[in-house]
Amino acid sequence: MRDLPPELHDRAALERLQLTRLRQSLAHAYAGNAHYRRAFDEAGVTPDDLRSLADLARFPFTTKTDLRATYPYGFFCVPMDQVARIHASSGTTGKPTVVGYTKTDIAIWAELVARSIRAAGGRPGMKVHVAYGYGLFTGGLGAHYGAEAAGCTVIPVSGGQTAKQVQLICDFAPDIIMVTPSYMLTLLDEFRRQGVDPRGTSLKLGIFGAEPWSEALRQEIETSFAMDAVDIYGLSEVMGPGVGSEFVATKDGPVIWEDHFYPEIIDPETGAVLPDGIEGELVFSSLTKEAMPIVRYRTRDRTRLLPGTSCAARRIARISGRTDDMLIVRGVNVFPTQIEELLLRCAGLTAHYQLELTRPARMDELTIVVEARAQCADRDGQGSKLQAAIKELIGVTAAVRVVAPETLERSAGKAQRLKDLRRSP
Ligand code: DLL
Repeated sequence: MRDLPPELHDRAALERLQLTRLRQSLAHAYAGNAHYRRAFDEAGVTPDDLRSLADLARFPFTTKTDLRATYPYGFFCVPMDQVARIHASSGTTGKPTVVGYTKTDIAIWAELVARSIRAAGGRPGMKVHVAYGYGLFTGGLGAHYGAEAAGCTVIPVSGGQTAKQVQLICDFAPDIIMVTPSYMLTLLDEFRRQGVDPRGTSLKLGIFGAEPWSEALRQEIETSFAMDAVDIYGLSEVMGPGVGSEFVATKDGPVIWEDHFYPEIIDPETGAVLPDGIEGELVFSSLTKEAMPIVRYRTRDRTRLLPGTSCAARRIARISGRTDDMLIVRGVNVFPTQIEELLLRCAGLTAHYQLELTRPARMDELTIVVEARAQCADRDGQGSKLQAAIKELIGVTAAVRVVAPETLERSAGKAQRLKDLRRSP
């Protein structure tokens, strides 16, 4: 891509830049934050110990629990009057995780989302419908500032009000939509309900993220809407959307913007750094953040680091799931995206699904509840087909309940795939 910084085309130059920036960032964290100072001291390291990128392995990890323990502002590294904005990720339990940005942080974030939009094929002058939620969630405002920085016209719709979203897409004629993949499916149903052909809209490109999704769902969305669908990755603790994003020409996994974030893959059990290509837990250190630099943050996302294709920065494989969404059903690891991949191979089933976990006796039982397509004549047959595929390809026995169209709750943001109905043992 023409407008990438030169370091992203030269691996050796990129690694030199990373080392310089990482040393500055570690020094900033150590000098400006009591948690980092204590954690580095306990691990017996100082920022000067980072002489090569591999030395980062000697530094302590940061976890969500660490962030929560210093709620709300304990990880900030600049005086409060330099914090220009606050976001928070709600999580599923307890207090939210709070993150802060200086003006420079916000400008860099906007530029990285703009870069992501350009990688996806977006150009100045295009109209962008933003249906990620606005507010404390980083999705809406992150996409918004990025689309503005890319020279696009932003339509800040936020999530919800599905019927109105469809009307706005028809009337305002956006070229690009930025939304969670599960909410895009909700929009698809609404197009059909209103009798509007989803292939006939002005939308040419969708930039989807904020939750795990499968290659099969990409195909479903691309075919149903006649658009390109690309994957954007990010998390609040590290920045928000745009930590990495896919190139439309290759669609081979988000490219991590390695001039601003240093990725590692670790063994989630031992913490050891794994070689590129091996699946494990993704860990990030920020290289340029001011308000809240982050050192070796454990994302809980499972993936692999892959060599660059469109540039010298590495890619991640599709996130196979989060360590905390992973079900272990009678000893077998199961991720919702694996099920999604298989159910979309059944022509009579939709991608509206939930996984129910129950414990009727002493063993956990998994039931996949999935909506049939309106024209599906043989629900039982489709259910058995899915059950057999799950047994054969994932290795677990699961029950399948095929329900009528429009019966499961719809996502207006991140989908809740798992319903844990087990009583405590
Ligand atoms: O979801 C930021 C974001 C907004 C990314 C919009 C992309 C688009 P959090 O709410 O902090 O931030 O959630 C971060 O969401 O650790 C992953 O588990 C998951 N996630 C985000 N993007 C993807 C993706 C935003 N492309 C958590 N594929 C992350 C799979 C994703 N999972």
